[in-house]
Amino acid sequence: MTAPQPNPVPEHIGARMRMAPRHHTMYGEKLPHMAQAEHCTMVIFGATGDLTKRKLFPALYQLAEEHLLGPGFAVLAVGRESSLDDASFRERMRAALGESDEVKRLDDEVWKAFEKRIFFVGGDATDAAAYEGIKRKLDEIESECVPAERNRFFYLAVPPSVFEPIVRLLSSSGLVPRIEDPEHRPWARVVVEKPFGHSLATARALNQLVLSLFAEHQVYRIDHFLGKETVQNVLVLRFANSIFEPLWNRRWVSHVEITAAETVGVEARGKYYEEAGVVRDMFQNHLLQLLALTAMEPPSAMTADAVRDEKVKVLRSIRWLTPETIPANTVRAQYGAGKVKDKDVSGYRDEPDVSKDSQTPTYAAVRFHVDNWRWKGVPFYVRSGKRLPKRVSEIAVHFQAPPHLMFGGPGAGHNLEPNVLVMRVQPNEGVSLNFEVKVPGAAVALTQEVEVAPVDMDFAYAEAFGETAAPAYETLLLDVMIGEMTLFTRSDEVEAAWRLIDPLLDYWEKHPASPMPTYAAGSWGPCEADELIKRENGGWREP
Ligand code: BG6
Repeated sequence: MTAPQPNPVPEHIGARMRMAPRHHTMYGEKLPHMAQAEHCTMVIFGATGDLTKRKLFPALYQLAEEHLLGPGFAVLAVGRESSLDDASFRERMRAALGESDEVKRLDDEVWKAFEKRIFFVGGDATDAAAYEGIKRKLDEIESECVPAERNRFFYLAVPPSVFEPIVRLLSSSGLVPRIEDPEHRPWARVVVEKPFGHSLATARALNQLVLSLFAEHQVYRIDHFLGKETVQNVLVLRFANSIFEPLWNRRWVSHVEITAAETVGVEARGKYYEEAGVVRDMFQNHLLQLLALTAMEPPSAMTADAVRDEKVKVLRSIRWLTPETIPANTVRAQYGAGKVKDKDVSGYRDEPDVSKDSQTPTYAAVRFHVDNWRWKGVPFYVRSGKRLPKRVSEIAVHFQAPPHLMFGGPGAGHNLEPNVLVMRVQPNEGVSLNFEVKVPGAAVALTQEVEVAPVDMDFAYAEAFGETAAPAYETLLLDVMIGEMTLFTRSDEVEAAWRLIDPLLDYWEKHPASPMPTYAAGSWGPCEADELIKRENGGWREP
């Protein structure tokens, strides 16, 4: 296989970045050996499911096209459809790539080479009998490898209810032995999709089980938000520039808004969503991760453990929600019928598999406080909802207003907007900073008044780099192959996040909302959420 080619980066981007390939610029000195993965086989459990065709295969194909897969890389798909074989599974994946938005152009040559390395074996991964077939197939696939090259990772793209039996069988079958030394070859890794647990107790039990069978460095807990380019950029923006860090604290920041808005409803996932709701689905993982990256201290190095240590410290500094504080600091709601992108859509309770008197929130807003030296007194407003008017995820850091304004002029003192730094996670990935400028004109000479207006300074990834960011799964799969764990959540991190969320889930379960607040599909959420921020900090942004 040829060596990976750095993506062309425009002249103005700067020499150091220009030398780096598209992936992993944040890991600095590790780049050379990380640029191409080692020889390995990916085994997918749940290979006939949605995730495999919508996310995993498009990501694998892109990696193949960019020559980032290791020599001899292979995929063994395991699924319960016994009618499938290698050929029909390959055909199905090719069709899926054709429909994927993430694959811009399906290159015949690349596909032909890649498909030869895709295999299928039928079997129920919760049944011990299936593992003999899996082993046999792996032996065939790896027949030309020396033992040290038989690196494997097992991707659990399956419902959480079967995580437990599958990890037990991976261990008892000998497919994933416990390996203490991260440098040992061959390696064996397990990738677990979210949700990791349903509560603190279940997450803990699952961690205990997994860590009784495998070492922590063998377990990759996916939070796909961490794979998004702009989420990684939060750290680069904060710690590779010196201008932000001195301002990044309670003295200069008035509040932080974190938004993950979606236009989609629950689609065909009513059954899962009824059990999960927005807090388990988005807050416990994605949103708390964004908060942690925004609020954390600089790590001692850009290594997995150093970064994760700092994130855990933030999660542990967040003030616990209690029955006394929950009503004033949280809002829950469900979408009612409405219009999204000019299309009439039904309300949550009319979606398939959703109960007519469901108490599951599809929207939540929470005011968190990070009780540490840096952030004491700075509210972090976090919100997420389905069926909102726009698909947008962003982190907005609002700075304090200037202490004294001496400009007269139209609207003086009223229209001035404090500076806001917005990190756009998606879409139109980038960063913008707004600040006030003088509106041109000579009026000041005559009237002694200066007209001031806000303007934006904007950086957009697509404009600067001429391409959109790599999809999250591409980054994350490559990281599993090269053994880079920074973008995966560690057991203590998962538990710290559950510890924060559990009291809220518990309170809402014991205190059903009556009536449940609703918001029209296509609106920015319930009016109760506006109240949460209005008194202290004006209102939510409309991104
Ligand atoms: C998933 C949630 O983890 O993230 C979904 O289960 C949600 O409900 C999705 O739609 C959002 O991710 P993205 O990458 O589409 O913003």
